[in-house]
Amino acid sequence: MPNIAIIGASRGIGLEFVRQYAAAGWRVYATTRTPENPGALGDLRGDIRLHHLDVRNDTHIARLADALSKVALDILVHNAGVLTSRGHASPDEISETMRVNAEAPIATVSALLDSVVTSDQKKVAIISSIQGSGRPRPSSPDLYGDSKGELNKRFRAIEPEWRAQGVTAIALHPGYVKTDMTGQHAAITPTESVSGIRSLLAGLTTAHSGRFLDYRGQDVVW
Ligand SMILES: NC(=O)c1ccc[n+]([C@@H]2O[C@H](COP(=O)([O-])OP(=O)(O)OC[C@H]3O[C@@H](n4cnc5c(N)ncnc54)[C@H](OP(=O)(O)O)[C@@H]3O)[C@@H](O)[C@H]2O)c1
Repeated sequence: MPNIAIIGASRGIGLEFVRQYAAAGWRVYATTRTPENPGALGDLRGDIRLHHLDVRNDTHIARLADALSKVALDILVHNAGVLTSRGHASPDEISETMRVNAEAPIATVSALLDSVVTSDQKKVAIISSIQGSGRPRPSSPDLYGDSKGELNKRFRAIEPEWRAQGVTAIALHPGYVKTDMTGQHAAITPTESVSGIRSLLAGLTTAHSGRFLDYRGQDVVW
């Protein structure tokens, strides 16, 4: 069966990715900041291998790349992200949010790219957000949207390099999903979001590379 890695798998959408791909018989490499206390991730059934990763930590990223150097990753999903409240943000909040949402996805995928290149499917999905659409937007105090806009900018700059190595990479908006990040008033469940993304990823071709798509496969405006 194919292999998939889910970066940021402890809760919410990431946890649901692990549940669905493991249930479908895939081998799942799932990262968590707390492998010694995996919570719901530890209760899932299937061929699931846990790895320790805080995406802010370059040593962790290098260790993960080393641990997976002999693994062919058919799909790599970078899901980890943080939401900061709208309005004024402290310098620490700004640097933390930019690190996790904008810098870490590119750093982590770049570090693991050799494992993707050696696989059959060679697919990368970076979870962005529609909140990053139309960024930069002057005078809008929205750190989360700005961080996802910055992610999109960095993704578009580096994606041609990945594509040149045979990789199909997309940015993804997962929908407005009921998780700890949003609450229960959100529009869809993690099950609906990840089911849609699985269909999208199954049908992904090289023609999709470099696009920003939502969980139904529809293009999102950059
Ligand atoms: N929910 C939505 O409607 C929505 C919409 C658009 C985009 N998104 C994006 O979808 C992704 C998943 O969101 P979610 O709704 O599932 O959020 P969530 O329930 O808050 O889960 C966030 C995940 O990211 C992990 N994470 C946060 N900081 C990390 C770090 N420094 N290192 C490693 N992992 C870290 C968390 O791990 P811990 O358990 O260790 O904190 C958790 O597994 C995020 O990128 C989010 O921006 C969500």
